[in-house]
Formats: sequence, structure tokens, C-alpha cells
Amino acid sequence: MALEIARSVDELRRLVESARRNGLTIGLVPTMGALHEGHASLIRAARGETGWVIVSIFVNPTQFGPNEDYQRYPRTWEQDLAVCQANGADLVFAPPVKEVFPPGYSTFVEVTKLQDPLCGGSRPGHFRGVATVVLKLFNMTTPDRAYFGQKDAQQARIIRQLVRDLNLPVTIRVCPIVREPDGLALSSRNRYLSPEDRHSATVLYRALETARRMIESGERNAACIRERMLAMIQSTPRAVAEYVDIVDYETMQPVANVQSGILIALAVKFGATRLIDNFLWHGESTG
Ligand code: PAF
Repeated sequence: MALEIARSVDELRRLVESARRNGLTIGLVPTMGALHEGHASLIRAARGETGWVIVSIFVNPTQFGPNEDYQRYPRTWEQDLAVCQANGADLVFAPPVKEVFPPGYSTFVEVTKLQDPLCGGSRPGHFRGVATVVLKLFNMTTPDRAYFGQKDAQQARIIRQLVRDLNLPVTIRVCPIVREPDGLALSSRNRYLSPEDRHSATVLYRALETARRMIESGERNAACIRERMLAMIQSTPRAVAEYVDIVDYETMQPVANVQSGILIALAVKFGATRLIDNFLWHGESTG
């Protein structure tokens, strides 16, 4: 079927109503565009589980800080449409900023506590912007299921809390991280990396794998694991660790000892480019 495109909430609602009248369940994949194989895996998951798949493409200004990359964030419209089409999306919802945040807009939602550590520490206001736009996208598209990537582990945790706290009638699906063959997690920001930085950027995955091996060999002291990871980053050209944290995935608070249900997460900068990655330790198996 031909891929449809909606730019306004009115157009979107007409199309959603018609899909509902046809008895279809709605899947939503919220994105900021610059789609890669990670997004494609979310679209395919939605295609497999729901009858009508919406991909939203909206670079959300409210989740970028004043000195961040909102202006230069990659916008790759034609390629994005091709990814949506190839992976079975039915509708692309790509509103202009004024449709989502018209002049005079003044309502924001915050998931307190969970929004503060990790990325929240270095990007104040980021998760307020994410939670607000995701809630708005849910209200606009009324999905039965919405799909997010585990790479943004804190975002996924915050969205689950938002859904739980506000009784939103949507099921959240969190899909596995998609990686390059050398382990680098796919990200729209990888394209900013110089060839040298791209080479160094594997340190995120290598540090996580080192942590995994330490845990699998019985290490339970979070400080020891963290120190080893930080040392690896410090010895990598141009890599600057923004944080390396071992937290309880439920509360996002640091743990002293590794136990089941912890998240090991890190953010590393290469010049102006900031990359994140993580893994969840569930005890015997990891994801
Ligand atoms: O993960 C992203 O791309 C964004 O944070 C999201 C969820 C689309 C909200 O703007």
C-alpha cells in the first residue's frame, strides 16, 4: 500500500479514524528522523504486531538544550521515507514545529526523579521535552502500541513511568539495540564522527563488554567495574567520558553492588558529538 503523509493533526486524526473504522490496531514509532536500521527494526516490530503503523518524524526543539545540536540535527527526509516504505509503515506523521508547539504553548509534563540522573544530569530539561512530546504524540495518534529502542534506556524507563502514572491506554514495547559489526550502537549522531572518532567510538561497546565479562566472572563491586570502564575511555584518543553509571533500572539510582535489574550506562563525547550506550543485567542473561 502507498505510504501516506500527514502534516497536520486534523489530517492525522481523519486517517487514524478511518484505520480504526476498518478495525485496525494502531502502532506508533516516534522518531526524530535520520532513520537507520535501529528505527527500521522498530517499524518492523510495529508492522508485525499492529494493523496500521504510524512513524512520526519530528525533531523536537523542547528536548534540546540551548547549546545542543537542534539546528544541525540531521534531516534526511527522502531517505527516511524510503526506510518507512521499505519496512512497512502506513503513515508518516511529520508536523511542522508550529503544529506541535504553537505560539503561546505553555504545558509541560515531567517524570520527576527518573529524569534527573544519567543523561538528565548533563542535559537539564531534556526528559521534560521528551515526556511532553511523547505524551502529545500519544494524544494525537492514539496508538495501541508504541515502539522505542533500548539504546535510550533512560528514555524508555521514563516513558513506561509516564504511561503508568497517567493511565495512558498504550502498551510500550522496547526493542533491542541494533549494532554495527564492530559493536557501535546505531545512532543518528554517528554520522557526525570523523573516521578517527568513528574508530575510537567502539570504546563504548568495548567498555560495556568488559563490564559484562567482569560481572560474569563474579565481580559485584560497582565502583571497580566503573573504574575499569573509565580507564578504558580515558586511554582512547579524543574520548571524554560524560558519565559511566551503574544504577538500579527501576529507580535509576546508583548501586554499590551488582544485582539483577541493574543498568550500566555511559555517555562519551568525541568533540561535539555525544554518544550513549548501555546494557541491562538481569542476573543470568543480559539484554
Ligand atoms: O528517541 C527519539 O528519537 C526521541 O527522543 C523521541 C522519542 C522521538 C521524542 O522526540
